[in-house]
Amino acid sequence: MFVFTMESRGQSSFVRKIYYFFILQVTLSCVLFSFFRGSKNLVQETDRSIDSLLKPDDPLLLILLWTFSGQFPQNQCPHPFDTHGCTFTNNRSLYSLADAVIIHHDEVCNSRNNLPQIKRPAKQYWIWFDLESPTHSANLNFMDKLFNLTMSYRVDSDIFLPYGWLEKHNGSQNFSIPVKTKLVAWAVSHWNPNFRRVQYYEELKKHINIDRYGRNQMSLPREKHNEILSTYKFYLAFENSIHEDYITEKLWDNSLISGTVPVVMGPPRENYERFIPPDSFIHVDDFSTAQKLAAYLMELDKDDKRYQQYFNWRSRYRPVVNVYWMLQYCQACQALKEAPSYRAISSIAKWFK
Ligand SMILES: *[C@@H]1O[C@H](CO)[C@@H](O)[C@H](O)[C@H]1NC(C)=O
Ligand SMILES: *[C@@H]1O[C@H](CO)[C@@H](O)[C@H](O)[C@H]1NC(C)=O
Ligand SMILES: *[C@@H]1O[C@H](CO)[C@@H](O)[C@H](O)[C@H]1NC(C)=O
Ligand SMILES: *[C@@H]1O[C@H](CO)[C@@H](O)[C@H](O)[C@H]1NC(C)=O
Repeated sequence: MFVFTMESRGQSSFVRKIYYFFILQVTLSCVLFSFFRGSKNLVQETDRSIDSLLKPDDPLLLILLWTFSGQFPQNQCPHPFDTHGCTFTNNRSLYSLADAVIIHHDEVCNSRNNLPQIKRPAKQYWIWFDLESPTHSANLNFMDKLFNLTMSYRVDSDIFLPYGWLEKHNGSQNFSIPVKTKLVAWAVSHWNPNFRRVQYYEELKKHINIDRYGRNQMSLPREKHNEILSTYKFYLAFENSIHEDYITEKLWDNSLISGTVPVVMGPPRENYERFIPPDSFIHVDDFSTAQKLAAYLMELDKDDKRYQQYFNWRSRYRPVVNVYWMLQYCQACQALKEAPSYRAISSIAKWFK
């Protein structure tokens, strides 16, 4: 069965302990401080300690977003990442004060000169951030011997950023399958005849009708995206390259949020089953040929009962997509607090394949 729901990824009790320990320290030192300064100041100092208890989000760690101008949290992260104690900035003048610097691979990988050039403060952590697959991450070797934490879609990253996840419902819920009027859809923006997905599509479409969206094809406006795709029974969630855990919005948003059944091409079936139930998707590798897959899809099309079984899991879970960058930054805050005081990654390139 799959293991990653966000429920199990909430604030750890370890962080909470550190946090209470910190509060205790502040309170104790205020009390002691006032005591030694004499009774005249006691009230005033006690007030201040209460004040600090009422405002537990006093900044502790400064996190500099070296690149990536997306939305970022102003000292307050949404649940379940609402740990206190990080301030985020994109002001590079604060580099020497930063406890950590988050560096988005795609925006620095063209040249080492895009990385911070000033001498790194002794305790500063560099966090390597990438959401592309290794195939589409240039110059990974530029990143060797620089970083302290990784942040990516790979489950074994220090900071794991999935494109989506399942949330458990409270109890059981009824899901209504969207009205289906069409059969198979595929949206592709990057058409490369050398990609396996394109070759597979060319073969598949000989045996089943597929509506293609994207450049020079039918248009799929962003605001109508889910609405249009929801009218299809199946969506081809074909990844642009095959890597462990590399399962993107093609599955999470285009298929699951839209309420279609995903036909996936990507890492092996077992890898998908780490994230979603086995009976929620169809894997191209389940069939020896594209023709057999096409035959199966047409069979399901005629058999409502069997088709509906692909939605059984929805009474227990709902898919959630990661749309705001904010969330990842909040996870970074949490991870930093749990990180050891020293950690070095000798080679990103050797790990990220
Ligand atoms: C960046 O930080 C520096 C140093 O604190 C400050 O002088 C400057 O005004 C800041 N820039 C912006 C755009 O906030
Ligand atoms: C689940 O139920 C609990 C307790 O009734 C409630 O506090 C919580 O908000 C519910 N969560 C969701 C996602 O509905
Ligand atoms: C789900 O649907 C069944 C059958 O229509 C109904 O008996 C049940 O009350 C519904 N449950 C919820 C949570 O709506
Ligand atoms: C971070 O990593 C770099 C390179 O691997 C290393 O030189 C540095 O000492 C590390 N810093 C900390 C605080 O672990």
